[in-house]
Order: sequence, then structure tokens, then C-alpha cells
Amino acid sequence: MDRRWWQGATLYQLYVRSWQDSDDDGYGDLRGIISRLDYLEWLGVDGIWLSPTMPSPDQDWGYDVSDYLGVHPELGTIDDLDALIKAAGQRGMRVLLDLVPNHTSSQHPWFVESAASRQSPLRDYYVWADPMPGGGPPNNWLDFTGQSAWEPDATTSQYYLHNFLRAQPDLNWWQPAVHEEFRRILRFWFDRGVAGFRIDVAQGLYKDALLRDNPPSADDGPLAGRFGLRSVYSENRPEVHGVYRDWRSIAESYDPPRLLLGETWVDDLRQLAAFYGQDDELQLAFNFPLVFAGFSADSLASIVASTLAALPASGCPVWTASNHDVSRFPSRWCGGDDAKVKLALLVLSALPGSLVLYYGDEIGMTDVAVPPELARDTFGGQSGHPGRDRARTPMQWDDSASGGFTAPGIRGWLPSGDAAARNVAAQRHDPGSVLSFCREALSLRRERADQPPQGYERLPAPPGVWRYAAGELIVTANFTDRPVGLPAPVGKVLLSTAGDRGQADPAALAPWEGVISGPVR
Ligand code: NOJ
Repeated sequence: MDRRWWQGATLYQLYVRSWQDSDDDGYGDLRGIISRLDYLEWLGVDGIWLSPTMPSPDQDWGYDVSDYLGVHPELGTIDDLDALIKAAGQRGMRVLLDLVPNHTSSQHPWFVESAASRQSPLRDYYVWADPMPGGGPPNNWLDFTGQSAWEPDATTSQYYLHNFLRAQPDLNWWQPAVHEEFRRILRFWFDRGVAGFRIDVAQGLYKDALLRDNPPSADDGPLAGRFGLRSVYSENRPEVHGVYRDWRSIAESYDPPRLLLGETWVDDLRQLAAFYGQDDELQLAFNFPLVFAGFSADSLASIVASTLAALPASGCPVWTASNHDVSRFPSRWCGGDDAKVKLALLVLSALPGSLVLYYGDEIGMTDVAVPPELARDTFGGQSGHPGRDRARTPMQWDDSASGGFTAPGIRGWLPSGDAAARNVAAQRHDPGSVLSFCREALSLRRERADQPPQGYERLPAPPGVWRYAAGELIVTANFTDRPVGLPAPVGKVLLSTAGDRGQADPAALAPWEGVISGPVR
């Protein structure tokens, strides 16, 4: 079991800058995490994924790495990271880091050297190309803001590729030396006891060798197309799978094997499944179609069924609903309604596979409207996007002015949400709170973690109700505003979003109520 500890596990994504400040500079840090590990242990978390911790000029808050072997001074030191890994380990929790292999910072020494001249020994570490005959960018690719993905460079009269910000040049994975660099980086962190990596832009590494134009796309959903183009040639190339086979063999050479969790931003579940390979690529791949699904019985059930049908028999699904790039699910799906937040936590926590919570999910933290003058995300405001700060605000620990995130009188790097309305301290002692419910759901999940990942079946239920079997558990979730008849529970009700069902009609589910039933162990 230890060899696949992530199966049935709960991971917790922790946006380091926003979780706990220990040195009163308004930024969360590694020492702050150590001081709050008892909370995560109490909650029932098996592992934490830290948003980028490496040195960075922070044009994209750590997703522009300038040194892959270090720790960002604002977040702490490498000794702090070692101490965190050790302290988490003592509480039975593993630590995953965020790895950014698609691009570096333009201030990374590799890029500085690469950009120095066409003859630079590192020139091919990045994607350089000549202008089109007659001038202009080499092809029609667009970056994630909708501008050309090509930046002209006056010194060498070529363009370099950046699928994200101009300050994030894309690495050239056709260059074998880049592979060697990342093998070294993987081993460096695995040797220090890092349990694995969340891999940023996992589908993106290779680009079409001929740099062909992307075709137009009629579909402009968040996953399918970008600004009227389908990213056929600028990402998702078949060669990327070789990278993960290579990394998997490195991960498997450790005991326990290290975990590779891909940020696989694809809309097609067959493409998602391909990242698991023949159980020789990523062990986990994020499911974005679920993130962007509607909050309804049919919409969620249909993604779950298609995912499980697409994944190879050995593939462990991973379920998550929020992260630092999208609106938080308690806002996006639930409109801030606690009953709905509990229902979402219930249906996700009972599914077979791995569960990834985003910090604050457990207290139903909602998006925060960050005024433009306090915005920190460079992406915000571009192409009409609301920006990503709304889901990155400080963790709400208590009802003090700083929400317990930083010392009184210190201004956090982003404004806090309404900590008086939702915070850990108040919810911890309230048996009816989202936090108490989440903890119970995680505890039930842990108790039944020995269930086979494939033991899922949708069961017949009235319209608007999602009823499924997961191993020996039966989940019945009412996604409607009216009470519905509860089909005879199989076994005892083990958990209800409505709390103690003592007073409830045993034959009906309240609006937005969900229950898990099963044999008592
Ligand atoms: C995905 C990350 O989650 C996002 O925050 C970042 O901006 C891009 N990748 C580029 O690294």
C-alpha cells in the first residue's frame, strides 16, 4: 500500500504565500506552514502540495523560476524546507513541490546565456525562430493572454517563444541537455525527501518541430481553444510522453516511489488517460473537465463515468474542484451556500481515487473581490479575465483583522476575505460547520481507503439526484431545491451533509442534502 500511498489519499494544495506568515512581512512562508501542521493532521490530510517554492522574480508568483535547486528567500531557506518535510513526516504527511518544466524565468541564467548570442552553447535550451519572411512573428501562436506568443529579441534578431508571459520563455524539449538538467533537478529534490511533484503545464513541454500554425477553433471554452485557435501544435505533442516515462523510472527508483501529478490541462478525457501511459508515466493527472463541469447531478456524474471509462485499469483518478488559477468552487459551484459546499465535499470525497483540496475549501472559503489597485496577478485584467487573485487571498484562521494569517497591524500581500464570516477557529468548534463536516468526510474516506479504484457505479435515482456505489459505500446526493424520496439506504447512514439525521425523515433527502450509507465497520 505504501508504494501507492496516493490511492485513496487526500492531498491539500497550499498556496504558500497565503497560508501563514511567520515573520510578519505579509507573505506566508515555510516556517508558517510548520507552525500549522497540527491543523492539517487534525483535518486528516495525507500530503501537501506547495505552490512554487523556488527562487523567482515573481512575475507569475513563482511560476517563473530562476533557480530550480533553491528556495525563494521570501518563503524561507532550504533548511526550513528540510525541517518542513521532517515535521510533516512525523505527522504522517508527505510533501510535494511544484515543478515548472515548460518554461523558466527570463532571468534564469540559462536564458540569460541563451539570449546572449546565436552562438551561445545554451542557445537551443529555448525555442528561438526567425521572423516570417517579410517580418513578424514566426507563426500564429498566442500566449495565455491572447497576445503573440513570440517576443522579438533585438540582440540576435530572432524571436523567442513564451506560451505564458514574456518573462517566461519556453524551454526547448527537443534539446537532450534540457532532459539531463531536469533529471538532475528531480533527483536533487527526491534525495531530500520530497515525495513528488505537481508538474506545471504537463501537456505543454514539446512544441511542433516545424512550428506549424495552430488551426482556428470555433470552440472557445477554457480547455478546448484559446482566443479562436486550437493549440494543436503548441502543446500536447506526442513526444511529451517520453519525458514522463523517463521521469517515472526515476520516481520508481526511490522507496517509496515518488509521485508525479500532472497539471494536464486537456479537454479530452482520452488525452488525459494517455498521461497515465501503461502505468509507466504520471501516476496522477488532474481532471480539468471536472473543474469546469456544471454543479448538477448529471454533469458531474457524466464526467466521472467518462473519466473512469477512459482511464487504464491501473490508473488512479484524481478529483479536485478548486485551485489557484480558477474561481473557488464554494463560489463557482455553490454561490457561497454551505449546504452546497458540503454536498460538493461529500460527492468528491467518496469517489474512488485521490482527492485534492485547495486551502480554504474545508471552510468553504469563497472568492474575494480584490480591487484593481491591490491586484498582484499580472494576468488580471488582460483580455477581460477577472484575474486569479480572487482565489489566492490569505487563509482565514480566525476573526481578527488579519484573519490570523499575519501579525496584527501587518498588511497581507493580498487583502483577506471576510474572516469574521468564515474562519477555522469558529468552525472547528461548531459541529454543524463545513470544517467539521469536511473532517468527518475525510475520516470516513481514510477508513475506506482500501476500496478498489474501479469500484464505482451510478445507480438509478430521481432526476437531479446523483446516486452511486463506491466499493461498499452508497452515496445519494440531492442537487435540487426540493426534497426527494431517499431510495432505501443500503446499510446505515454513515454521514449526512445535514448533520445528525436524528430528526430527519428517514425516507427523504432535504434540498441539497447528501448522505453516505454503508455497512458499519
Ligand atoms: C499553470 C499554473 O497553475 C499557473 O498559475 C501559471 O500561471 C501557469 N501554469 C504558467 O506557469
